[in-house]
Amino acid sequence: MQAKIEAAKEAFGKLLTEQLARVEEMKSQGDFVDYKSLDQITIGVCGGDGIGPAITGQAQRIMEYLLKDEIASGKVLIKNIEGLTIERRVAENAAIPADVLAELKTCDVILKGPTTTPQKGDPWPNVESANVAMRKALDLFANVRPVRIPEQGIDWTFYRENTEGAYAVGSKGVHVTEDLGVDFTVVTSQGCERIIRAAFEFAKANGKTRVSAVTKANIIKTTDGKFLETFREIAKEYPGITADEWYIDIMTAKLVDEKRRRDFQVVVLPNLYGDIITDEAAEFQGGVGTAGSANIGKKYAMFEAIHGSAPRMVKEGRDIYADPCSVIRAAAMLLAHIGFNDKADKLYKALDICTVTEKKLVMTGRDTGATGAQFADYIMETIEKL
Ligand code: IPM
Ligand code: MG
Repeated sequence: MQAKIEAAKEAFGKLLTEQLARVEEMKSQGDFVDYKSLDQITIGVCGGDGIGPAITGQAQRIMEYLLKDEIASGKVLIKNIEGLTIERRVAENAAIPADVLAELKTCDVILKGPTTTPQKGDPWPNVESANVAMRKALDLFANVRPVRIPEQGIDWTFYRENTEGAYAVGSKGVHVTEDLGVDFTVVTSQGCERIIRAAFEFAKANGKTRVSAVTKANIIKTTDGKFLETFREIAKEYPGITADEWYIDIMTAKLVDEKRRRDFQVVVLPNLYGDIITDEAAEFQGGVGTAGSANIGKKYAMFEAIHGSAPRMVKEGRDIYADPCSVIRAAAMLLAHIGFNDKADKLYKALDICTVTEKKLVMTGRDTGATGAQFADYIMETIEKL
């Protein structure tokens, strides 16, 4: 028994050393990259698994159409990154194969399709989620997820911490004995500060008057406690913005309260709570398939759909019918992030026309509806007429 405890302590010690190294790395980081100062912006398109290549391919066609002039002049380079597939990841027992990661690091921003995350019982070994690995490897600490339902007065922006909490060492828990398992939740001052500051800065820049923090600091006292403490400190620097605090359980309830929910504006929260709440929020908007997600760091940023890779659709030969909307929405977020706001606005408008107001094509996920390519054509024709 003592030997088992010693082994667990050793594993824990290793984690602490790794996490302290991460703290040092965060301390040495500069400011956010200024895309205007770059001679060339490289956009990597990483299709991923399952329906990923089919839907990101359509989003890429739209980006190439919108960025024609910039591509011709060399201001923008679009690069395809192959190999982030479950087969390669399993063969190399790596969340992201080394050559793929090296390619990703040559880009400034990345548009990523869904990637399969193995879970217990799957035929795959338990390789770490490629999403989570990419967020960590590129230090994409802010997961920004907007949810808008104008007719209900809902305009929420979630700032989910993306590199710490339950995810930081989520695949490195310890089975101390056959009966006792322990996972770890990690928080750092630097990690809390940068996500909370990002949320307040977003609020300030976009005329938002309220930022809400969500934790379970009454129970998870150390890590959530630090998050909340940091929130209170940073809030003092933004006197024009109301800062309020919620526990995750009651926040989950309030989001279904039609009288109260429209009052929320910007919500900042640790990783796991952000994961859960943003699925709930996206559901009101029409499902997780309708939401895009921005993963932003100081040096890199990655934009993705938040739905899965739907391997069954590929097996049944239906990937050409997969709905590319959410990854097209992610492409719009990408364009806005690198400073092409006018192009992003056009794309948002076209998405609205094509999926809500005009809706000339219907996607059913099978041959009873339009293909992703037809939908992308429809978007481009709509932009042409704006
Ligand atoms: C998300 C997803 C991922 C997460 C999965 C696919 C690893 O649910 O982006 O919200 O848990 O973060
Ligand atoms: Mg999720």
